[in-house]
Amino acid sequence: MSLFQLALEVRKNAHAPYSKFKVGAAIRSMNGKIFVGCNVENAAYPQGICAEAGAITAMIAGGENEIKEICVVADSPVPIAPCGGCRQKIAEFCTPDIPVVLADLKGETKRISMGELLPHAFSNAHLPEE
Ligand code: THU
Repeated sequence: MSLFQLALEVRKNAHAPYSKFKVGAAIRSMNGKIFVGCNVENAAYPQGICAEAGAITAMIAGGENEIKEICVVADSPVPIAPCGGCRQKIAEFCTPDIPVVLADLKGETKRISMGELLPHAFSNAHLPEE
């Protein structure tokens, strides 16, 4: 199954009763493992979790920490734009050249590099050395 199909499949499990906007995300790690996530909303709205955050959590729990490619799927009239918080979360685990594939239910709508999606990202390079 392609990364797109995996993201499309996990999107079906999204818990999005408030926004009605279901999102699926699939990550291929550098070691070729696949991790998926969907958005999980909450009646206490700020407690909701984005699909990308879920996929990253699964990746870390699965013992991987380098993203080779990520695909995000939503039923959006324009290519889905990962939120700012998710851009920062993705950037933690990849280099600026990795592809972020944005898709609607029919397939890919836009392919952008992580560096284009979040230029001048804050990273551990900004933290003082101990
Ligand atoms: N959402 C994601 O899961 N990923 C994004 O990149 C953008 C937004 C979710 C959060 C919320 O559950 C719903 O989409 C509407 O904002």
